[in-house]
Amino acid sequence: MSLRRLHHTQPDSFAFTAANKKWAKGQIAKFPKGRQASAIIPLLWRAQEQDGWLSKPAIEAVADMLGMDYIRALEVATFYFMFQLQPVGSVAHVQVCGTLSCMICGAEDLIGVCKDKIAPNPHEISEDGKFSWEEVECLGACTNAPMAQIGKDFYEDLTVESFTGILDEFADGKVPTPGPQNGRYAAEPLSGLTTLQDMNSGKYDHNTSASFALQYGDTVKRIQGDEVPILKTRKKSAKSKVN
Ligand code: FES
Repeated sequence: MSLRRLHHTQPDSFAFTAANKKWAKGQIAKFPKGRQASAIIPLLWRAQEQDGWLSKPAIEAVADMLGMDYIRALEVATFYFMFQLQPVGSVAHVQVCGTLSCMICGAEDLIGVCKDKIAPNPHEISEDGKFSWEEVECLGACTNAPMAQIGKDFYEDLTVESFTGILDEFADGKVPTPGPQNGRYAAEPLSGLTTLQDMNSGKYDHNTSASFALQYGDTVKRIQGDEVPILKTRKKSAKSKVN
């Protein structure tokens, strides 16, 4: 476990984009009078989605919006590991699961790829400024171990080769197809379905999560607040997009 401190170098200020500010006000309005502080996690998360990480000015700006003491907002931001307290790569921050199933199935090799291709240490930005990485606890995709979360999506059933290729594609400005990387549809046995076989209709090219990821192409996109709301159902076929 690492010590969670604010980064030594901070920007002078933080401001939500106009659209994110409007979104934030909508979140605050969901809570009864006097309970606005309850909106702190969604607001901190949106600040991180906008900038990639949470700076001290961002935490304080959120505290000001919610009428909270800075220390209370800092307590939340420093407690939860999902908040990045240091700058991340401009393209993607890679989170490799290092818990039991993934470790047994090769997570250490994936971490080796991160060390070779990104930077020797977690939370260190690559020389080209594009990537950073860290080891995280179980992300709940243990059946498809080893896996990594990159931006908003899961890349599963990874090998050194497939993980290396995925990082190369991101570096080239592409967004690789998320989900299992070994031909598996979802989390069924590698040998194929043994029950509910009539569900294997072949209707969709990818599982729901991967389909939506391809359809919206926002895997590593910074959220400015003016994105089209996700209201549609998934398409039968979705091609990988370039951000
Ligand atoms: S152990 Fe890696 S996703 Fe659960």
